[in-house]
Amino acid sequence: MPIPPLRERPAYEALAQHYSTIQDRHLRELFAQDVTRGERFSAEAAGIYLDYSKNRITEETVTLLLQLAKESELERRRDAMFAGEPINVSENRAVLHVALRMPKGTSLVVDGVDVVAEVHQVLDRMADFATKIRSGAWKGHTGKPIRNIVNIGIGGSDLGPVMAYEALRHYTDRNLTFRFVSNVDSTNFVEATRDLVAGETLFIVSSKTFSTLETLTNATSARNWIIDRLGNQAVAKHFVAVSTNTDRVAEFGIDPANMFGFWDWVGGRYSMDSAIGLSTMVALGSERFGELLAGFHAMDEHFRTAAPEQNLPMLMGLLTVWYVNFFGAQSIGVMPYDQYLKRFPAYLQQLTMESNGKHVTLDGANVNYPTGPVFWGEPGTNGQHSFYQLIHQGTALIPVDLIGFGKSLNPLRDHHDILTSNVFAQAQALAFGKTEEEVRAEGTPEAVVPHRIMEGNRPTNVLLAEKLTPYVLGALVALYEHSVFTQGTIWGIDSFDQWGVELGKQLALAIVPELTSAADPELGHDSSTNTLIRRYRALKG
Ligand code: F6P
Repeated sequence: MPIPPLRERPAYEALAQHYSTIQDRHLRELFAQDVTRGERFSAEAAGIYLDYSKNRITEETVTLLLQLAKESELERRRDAMFAGEPINVSENRAVLHVALRMPKGTSLVVDGVDVVAEVHQVLDRMADFATKIRSGAWKGHTGKPIRNIVNIGIGGSDLGPVMAYEALRHYTDRNLTFRFVSNVDSTNFVEATRDLVAGETLFIVSSKTFSTLETLTNATSARNWIIDRLGNQAVAKHFVAVSTNTDRVAEFGIDPANMFGFWDWVGGRYSMDSAIGLSTMVALGSERFGELLAGFHAMDEHFRTAAPEQNLPMLMGLLTVWYVNFFGAQSIGVMPYDQYLKRFPAYLQQLTMESNGKHVTLDGANVNYPTGPVFWGEPGTNGQHSFYQLIHQGTALIPVDLIGFGKSLNPLRDHHDILTSNVFAQAQALAFGKTEEEVRAEGTPEAVVPHRIMEGNRPTNVLLAEKLTPYVLGALVALYEHSVFTQGTIWGIDSFDQWGVELGKQLALAIVPELTSAADPELGHDSSTNTLIRRYRALKG
């Protein structure tokens, strides 16, 4: 039997009813009524503890959300993903990033091919390459070892590598310098390379399709940069590629022997643990990269086998649906209280928004409910001195994930206790706020009382792990990947395509010659675009 549209599923209707009884209830009251709430609404997996008690939910909410998951056939769809069924319907592809982290010796056969064996062949080649770079055995054209690695890629071929490099910097080889060039703005390339010695620099050109305009433009500039300094013959020792497209890699001039492959069943935004993670492996070494994969896999196994009521990704995904579809939340904040995770929100933005920014269902019908919210964030405590004001006292409801750690990787005096006290304090302040009576009791002048009232009742999840390790990072990313999957399944959308980004690319390609031509071009766009192009041509001189 086909799954009914979201609004017609009985659990959805029940949730809508239930919402009317919850919307006026305050977290103060929910906590006062049940002193065990803070322990009960929690779950743990793969080294990550989730406290979801400060959400605007009761037992009944969770029961109904889990019922909605059941009626949306979440477990069946999850199993279909793990089995390699083509659940990416608009591209007729399997979605198998979970195979990227299955341990050596296990197997997953899809269309007669053991994809796990293929994954490990590539991982072994990557490990061999990473060891050669790290040991200095790989020599550049002039005989010098490589000391600088520049990853050229964009979107999923950049955000994962940058995020992982920054997140795990503590574990990286500090004799090596890593740079990331993504933007077609030449400033990115020029600033990333200005102080590098060509003979010691290796470019990793990362592109699933090897056809992305930004990446090919940057890769061409990198090739010119090497050739200008070292000559034509140097390309072989200073370029490797990561791609699914061997022909295009060869056409560009990189020997396919220096290419690390992956497969069309790995979405760009789900690829940081494929060969796209080559720079990560060079930075960390293959053993620590293996720990990262083990963390991913532990969370995959949890998602695949844990009961829904204890299943972290399911719970987090369902809570997002609860706020988006019933409270009208339009954005979710993710605030890591760890400086190393400064690029984590940017990474999550592609993962979440490119996945669930869709307005048609799997069978092509327009949805009549909101889908993917905006995800955003900054590391704590910086955000507290900037935009948290709006989360505390603004008019929009913004559920927030606060991510904290038991230990600092750089302990210094009492910094870490101060940092972590802020995780707990923010969750408290957002949940419980400050009442009018409390404000008055502080002797606040009457006119100022309304300004100082904190309504509270702002939901948070608190995620806590012992410390930021490769394993924990893998588990954290997989947690969000599967939370996104859970949301997409409830909304009945294809979380694995990204057709929306294509039109802009095509239009830009058509405009490029109109900006570069020597003679004034005939312009046939709308009047705004035509005027802007003329003005740009005048400005550029
Ligand atoms: O423009 C979006 C996108 O297709 C992303 O999905 C992808 O991660 C990125 O471009 C880069 O694509 P590629 O790895 O093929 O260069």
